[in-house]
Amino acid sequence: MGARIIGTGSSVPKTCLTNADLEKRVDTSHDWIVSRTGIHQRHVVTQDEDILDLMHEASLRALDASGLRAEQLQAIVVATVSGNYAFPSTACLLQARLGLDNIPAFDVNAACAGFVYGMSVAHSYIKSGDYDRLLLVGADTLSTMVNWEDRSTCVLFGDGAGAVVLDTQNARSDDRGLLSTVVESSGALWQLLHVRSDHRQTVDQEGSHPKEWGIQMKGPELFKVAVRALSEVTRKALDKAGLSPADVSLMVPHQANLRIIRAVAERLHMAMDQVYCNVQDYGNTSAASIPIALDEAVRAGRVRPNDILALCGCGGGLTWGTSIVRW
Ligand code: UT7
Repeated sequence: MGARIIGTGSSVPKTCLTNADLEKRVDTSHDWIVSRTGIHQRHVVTQDEDILDLMHEASLRALDASGLRAEQLQAIVVATVSGNYAFPSTACLLQARLGLDNIPAFDVNAACAGFVYGMSVAHSYIKSGDYDRLLLVGADTLSTMVNWEDRSTCVLFGDGAGAVVLDTQNARSDDRGLLSTVVESSGALWQLLHVRSDHRQTVDQEGSHPKEWGIQMKGPELFKVAVRALSEVTRKALDKAGLSPADVSLMVPHQANLRIIRAVAERLHMAMDQVYCNVQDYGNTSAASIPIALDEAVRAGRVRPNDILALCGCGGGLTWGTSIVRW
C-alpha cells in the first residue's frame, strides 16, 4: 500500500534580504556568499510574522492543490525546530487554525532532515492502515536563531514553510506513491550544528550578543559529513526501492549549499539537470527547504506522472534521510 503526494504548497515571509543587504550588517561580500554557498537572497520573518502564518498558508495551498477539504485530513505531522512554545506543538496550533479536532497532530524534531523524517512517519502510518490522508508540513524560522553579528552563520539561513497532502487514493491499485524511506542519526556528531532553545530574536530586533549566542556550526566538518551521508543514504533508499541513481528523474535535496548538492550529485553519478536547486532564492530554510523546492518543481512542470523523485536532507542531530517517490 502506497501513499501519493496529491498536493503541494509553500509560503515564505515578505521580507527579502539580499547579499548586498547583509554586506551592510557584517563583514561579508556577495561574491564570497555566492561562491561558497550559491545563495543570493533569503526571506526572513520580522516581529509581526509568525511561523504559524507560514505553515497555515502553505497548508491551505497544498490542500487547494489536492482538491481535499481540511476536514478530510486524518492526521497532521509538522517537521520543525522553531515553534514558539515548548508545548503545545506547532502541529496542534496549526490544527486549531485549520478548524480541525479529534485527529492526531504532533511535531517531529530532526532539524533540516525533518521533512524526510516526517515522510518516514507518514509512510508508516499509511502502511499500517491506520490513516489514509495526512498533512505533512516542514517549517522553520532559523533566522530567529542566528546571531546577526556572526557572518559565518547569519548569511546562510532563511525562513519558510512547505506542505504536502498524502493520500492512499488510487495508490493501492498501482505502484505510484511513496516507495521507500531511510532515515539515520548520529548523536555523536551533535556538536557540529546546534543552538540553545532560548536563543531567539528576529532580524529587526536590537541586541548585541556574546560570540557563542545563536546557531553554532562547524561548517567544513559538517560539509564533509553531509556529502557522505546524503549520497550513502540516497543509495540505501534507492536500493530498498529496487532502483539506482540512474532511475532518478529529479532529486530534490535539502538546500543548504550548492556545493554540497553538486558533490552529492557527482557521487551518485547524476547530472545536475536531474537535480532541483533553489538555494539561490531562499538560502537554507531547514525543514522547509525540501517541500518548498518540491512545490516549486511541481508548479513549474518539472515533475510528471511516474517520475522517480529522491527527497534527501541532512541536518542538526546529526540527522539525515532520503525518501523515494514514484510520482
Ligand atoms: O542544513 C544543515 C546542513 N548544513 C550544512 O551542511 C552546511 C555545511 N557547511 C557549509 O556549507 C560550509 O562549510 C559553509 C558555507 C558554512 C562555510 O564555507 P567554507 O568554504 O567551509 O568556509 P570556512 O568556514 O572554511 O571559512 C573560510 C573563510 C574563513 O576565513 P579564514 O579563516 O580562511 O581567513 C572564514 O572566516 O571564510 C571566512 N568566512 C567568511 N568570509 C566572508 C566565513 N563566513 C564568511 C562570510 N563572508 N559570510
